[in-house]
Amino acid sequence: MKGGGAYISIGSSTSSINSMGSGSGSGSKMTLGKSVKMYLTIFIATTCIYMVLYQYHMSREPFAPSEVGKHQEKSSSSSYIASYLWSPMSLLMANATTTTTTTTTTTTVSSTTTTTATVSNAGQVGQGSSSGSIRTVSLAATRPTQASSLASASAGGAAAHKTAATTTTTTSTTPPATVTTTTTTTRANPIAKKGPASTSMSQSQLDAAHKIRPTFVAASEPPPLYIITPTYRRPEQLAELTRLGYTLKHVANLLWLVIEDANKTNPLVAHTLDRIGVPYEYMVAPMPEKYKQTKKAKPRGVSNRNRGLEYLRQHATEGVLYFADDDNTYDISIFEQMRYISKVGMWPVGLVTKTGVSSPIIRNGKLDGYYDGWIGGRKYPVDMAGFAVNIKFLRQRPHAQMPFKPGYEEDGFLRSLAPLDNDEIDLLADECRDILTWHTQTKKNPPAQALNKTRYSNTNLVHIDKLLVRP
Ligand code: UGA
Ligand code: MN
Repeated sequence: MKGGGAYISIGSSTSSINSMGSGSGSGSKMTLGKSVKMYLTIFIATTCIYMVLYQYHMSREPFAPSEVGKHQEKSSSSSYIASYLWSPMSLLMANATTTTTTTTTTTTVSSTTTTTATVSNAGQVGQGSSSGSIRTVSLAATRPTQASSLASASAGGAAAHKTAATTTTTTSTTPPATVTTTTTTTRANPIAKKGPASTSMSQSQLDAAHKIRPTFVAASEPPPLYIITPTYRRPEQLAELTRLGYTLKHVANLLWLVIEDANKTNPLVAHTLDRIGVPYEYMVAPMPEKYKQTKKAKPRGVSNRNRGLEYLRQHATEGVLYFADDDNTYDISIFEQMRYISKVGMWPVGLVTKTGVSSPIIRNGKLDGYYDGWIGGRKYPVDMAGFAVNIKFLRQRPHAQMPFKPGYEEDGFLRSLAPLDNDEIDLLADECRDILTWHTQTKKNPPAQALNKTRYSNTNLVHIDKLLVRP
């Protein structure tokens, strides 16, 4: 704006001098007038060039700290947004990186054959996509970051290191994952689709986008989250996983451990997880036969969660683990808060029996007991949806696990983390004044009846029928 003002004043003074010059009749004055005119023309031209350069320079400056602050307020994960560095090259790099990653990933997928019963999806979108905060700052900048996270997430073990070497922005916090050849096509496709989508932008479009606002890239990922979700075969299963999966899709740097109470994986579940696109591991952990047979309450989801803990002891070194039952409801801000738990974190859970809420009681800023519809002699009468644990802390408790004791799963697991002082429990969700998770239950549905294959042969119903989960 200052430049504009200067330009106008110079322009007006020019015209006044010009009119002076044309008003005089003398030859020497004419010559003087001409050289003054020439001088002014050169001066104005130089000023214009300077202004153009100045504008260009300004357009490439990083945001002033105050502007970053504004984004920070919007962001729920403000503590790491400050680590974004301005990178003028990142937008141009977007194409190159995406292309490289696509190639790398495809190679990795076709060359990696695991013998485990797990299927994993490198679903790029969960990685970083997610972070609304990153998107607020720059949409374009997240692409290369996502793509490279994807490459490393898709490669397991040694393969991961190989892939990491070929990408530029891979970080050590990306959760590890393995792939099976069965998912090659499913997984390669979304990535392949991404490639052309981003490479199809012309250079001039990229330049134009660049001029609109500066570009930021994430300098580091936030601490990883490992979400352990027990699931089991029933008509509602795919609906529950779809709903939870799309919630998790809003969360950056997360690995979803979906563990089914079954002897073998279900391709329909794998397909659903592939489609959602959150990085995941799909494993099985059947409930021991003796508990299945019992007429009494069953320890639901326990073998699944213990399998998840075993996986984490093998693969995870840092971050936070959370047990997210497939049927509950989660506000994504709880995930951003739980990343930074130092040992154990707790918070209220809504809709638990007629008590309405299960929550730690905070008195004078300190944890002072628990509010829950059923205390049952528990040291930690909390709901499964109301706590999370730091991975490093878990690894310091090699024997910590969940007991096959209906009603005492949470308590037994938290007790197995001893020693743990109440003072060491982080109180999340506005010091337990807010409700960010709910223990919801989906109405049970009867299994779908068999399709009349004669009546509906050669119709779409034959295809749909194959998508239904029957117990
Ligand atoms: C409550 C708690 O929130 C659970 O964490 C706890 O395991 C359960 O009570 C219990 O104490 O038995 P609730 O909603 O009553 O959960 O149980 P479900 O939602 O039916 O099951 C909890 C989790 O285990 C779900 O993710 C579910 O998919 C899984 N599950 C359930 C199995 O893996 N196998 C089963 O046979 C049943
Ligand atoms: Mn439930």
